[in-house]
Amino acid sequence: MTHETLTVTDNRTGKSYEIPITHDTIRAMDLRQIKVNEDDFGMMSYDPAFKNTASTKSTITDIDGDKGILQYRGYPIEQLAEQSTYLEVAYLILNGELPTQAELDEWTREITHHTLIHENVKQLFDAFRYDAHPMGMLISSLAALSTFYPEASNIGDIKSRDLQIKRLIAKAPTLAAFAYRHSVGLPYNYPDNDLSYTGNFLNMMFKMVEPRYKPEPALERALDVLFILHADHEQNCGTNAMRSVGSSNVDPYCAAAAAAAALYGPLHGGANEAVIRMLTEIGSLDNIPAFIERVKNREVRLMGFGHRVYKNYDPRAKIIKRIADEVFAVTGANPLLDIALELERIALEDDYFIERKLYPNVDFYSGIIYQAMGLPTAMFPVMFAIPRMVGWLAQWVEMLDDDEQAIARPRQIYLGARNRDYVSIDQR
Ligand code: ACO
Repeated sequence: MTHETLTVTDNRTGKSYEIPITHDTIRAMDLRQIKVNEDDFGMMSYDPAFKNTASTKSTITDIDGDKGILQYRGYPIEQLAEQSTYLEVAYLILNGELPTQAELDEWTREITHHTLIHENVKQLFDAFRYDAHPMGMLISSLAALSTFYPEASNIGDIKSRDLQIKRLIAKAPTLAAFAYRHSVGLPYNYPDNDLSYTGNFLNMMFKMVEPRYKPEPALERALDVLFILHADHEQNCGTNAMRSVGSSNVDPYCAAAAAAAALYGPLHGGANEAVIRMLTEIGSLDNIPAFIERVKNREVRLMGFGHRVYKNYDPRAKIIKRIADEVFAVTGANPLLDIALELERIALEDDYFIERKLYPNVDFYSGIIYQAMGLPTAMFPVMFAIPRMVGWLAQWVEMLDDDEQAIARPRQIYLGARNRDYVSIDQR
């Protein structure tokens, strides 16, 4: 018979402890009983960057990094990308089940009717410098929304919580598009409620003087698929920020601003911009072998390759590669695609990449598509933040409803000085 326990012997004292194992995991608090004497605080575990620590139980998103599998609420990402829509997936991620037609219609109606932002929020954008980064504007405007909806601080009120969730999902594209329009000096476009979630986003981004904007169906659908692929990715840096900041019981606008700030970093949502820079620098197919040599000599990294969790082809990258063709059929080819395809072909045959299990990740092809759609690189992290809003919110709700969660407050190993007497400035 197997015992679902771990026996630990403390060689300092010779004592043994039996620690329960649940879901292949031990509880860090079970280590606290391990002490050398009664005054001892007890054993802790040390895990900078949470590389081997589960911060929560979750039922939202599952990744099998070795097999290259990604599922939302048990549904494979490939099926959702093929057959679903972003708003349906958003409903699934938030509620745990796919909606009926009536539920989807009501959900779509509600999201569509919360897309407008207060005119004072519009003025907030005017206050930014002409060349302000759109991600900085998005983060600031998300936090600013908390001042327009002060009832949002009542996070225990389920009705109010649901309303704020709808507002955040509905207004994220509006804030993003207003940030873009400000950064290029164009007038803001108000939402068009007759359009789909992504069709309206394209309208707010690209409408010029025509009376009615008609989104190109292929681009509208491609963007919808990209949004599905980015909707959630379990406990990544931004989501961890949402949960950690949200654990103080702050309102969801401020928590979402913190999550977006985490996403802004080049190690997280900024990698697709680095891919474009890299492909532009390589410039032509002839230069690829020399670039690969530089990667192998550790002078540069092959951006858009490798992942902390995926040790196989990122399933999202496979889908993105396919929709790239559909986008380029409308926009015309992006010459960087040929370089990317050849780079991938050579890398996947090379021992350096094979041994380290380095495959293209979601960012390898997404930037090329966004660029072909006419988006400047500064907008790439914004394009990630819009769909990730639903993931942040679902994870936030899961955290609030979890009785085991409390304010996030890690321990430290203090290695600094102790018990020093203050020395007056003339004595130093
Ligand atoms: N190019 C070249 N070598 C690489 C790359 C790469 N892109 N990624 C990893 N390696 C090598 C490392 O040098 C290391 O080799 P070594 O064992 O000989 O020292 C080995 O592969 C393992 O790499 P780590 O850095 O330990 O892997 P980690 O899990 O910490 O890093 C990361 C993952 C940050 C994504 C890394 O692969 C990377 O920097 N990739 C490029 C940036 C990128 O595309 N980021 C987007 C990630 S997806 C997202 O956030 C949405």
